[in-house]
Amino acid sequence: ERRLTTKIIGHPVIFLDEVDSTNNYAKTLGASNAQNGTAVVAARQTAGKGRLARKFESPEGCGVYLSIFLRPKLQVSDINCITLMTAVVVADTVEELCGLRPTIKWTNDVYLNGKKLCGILTECSIEGESGAVEYAVVGIGTNLGQTSVDFPEEIRNIATSVFQETGVRIAQADYAAALLKNFERYFYEQHFPENKASFLGQYRKDLFFLGQEVTVVGMTGQYTAVAMDIDEEGRLLVRTEDGRTKALNSGEISIRMK
Ligand code: ATP
Ligand code: BTN
Repeated sequence: ERRLTTKIIGHPVIFLDEVDSTNNYAKTLGASNAQNGTAVVAARQTAGKGRLARKFESPEGCGVYLSIFLRPKLQVSDINCITLMTAVVVADTVEELCGLRPTIKWTNDVYLNGKKLCGILTECSIEGESGAVEYAVVGIGTNLGQTSVDFPEEIRNIATSVFQETGVRIAQADYAAALLKNFERYFYEQHFPENKASFLGQYRKDLFFLGQEVTVVGMTGQYTAVAMDIDEEGRLLVRTEDGRTKALNSGEISIRMK
């Protein structure tokens, strides 16, 4: 905590040896009078989670599993954009500490050399009538020290770590401190969400499949389209084979590269 130079984000930091999921823990803070900006960090998670109840491997000593608790004055429609903003925060932080800039896979994954380095999961609680966000939890899991044998076999070919790709060993505390600092920079100093340009321009540059043909996989089937752009709401604009443009929400769909 001595390394922390932020004003709001990471005040306080709650350190846990083990928890099911730092996101679940952070959500319980919603009912207490926990401070906006509180960060929850765990050495390991027993049930780290991704989207759609998928598992996020969270072994001790290898990664940073962190959730930021926010009581933002935001609308639900801004929540997608927090995830996008956070992907840029992660890319900046990794580049700063190891020299290699990651790429982003819309919406919530950060890649290094074509493999997944980090996943982001934003959850929020909505106030009944108004649609205002009561609190939001931004969960960030980053692989720092794994070598390929440390990953379970099912994800060995798709997951990676900073060490595996660059040989650089980043200390967990240094990474967490830099991450919180960069989060504060984009969220407060650059006035999220009024100033979306501050991260959207960078997000578009970091995306690795714009202009390419992708497969959009939904609940009811899949189709081919060309990924065109990201709009102001953080949606992915695709051009379908019959020439129409569709705006996709991240909710229930996955994008597969060809
Ligand atoms: P989508 O393409 O649908 O966006 P996703 O990668 O975002 O897929 P999530 O459910 O958000 O999917 O993330 C969980 C997935 O990430 C798991 O199904 C697994 O494939 C992969 N995964 C699990 N643990 C790790 C890890 N520590 N590092 C990298 N990838 C992981
Ligand atoms: C993804 O892979 O798409 C999202 C993974 C998000 C993982 C982080 S680790 C910290 C926080 N706690 C969780 O259970 N999930 C997030």
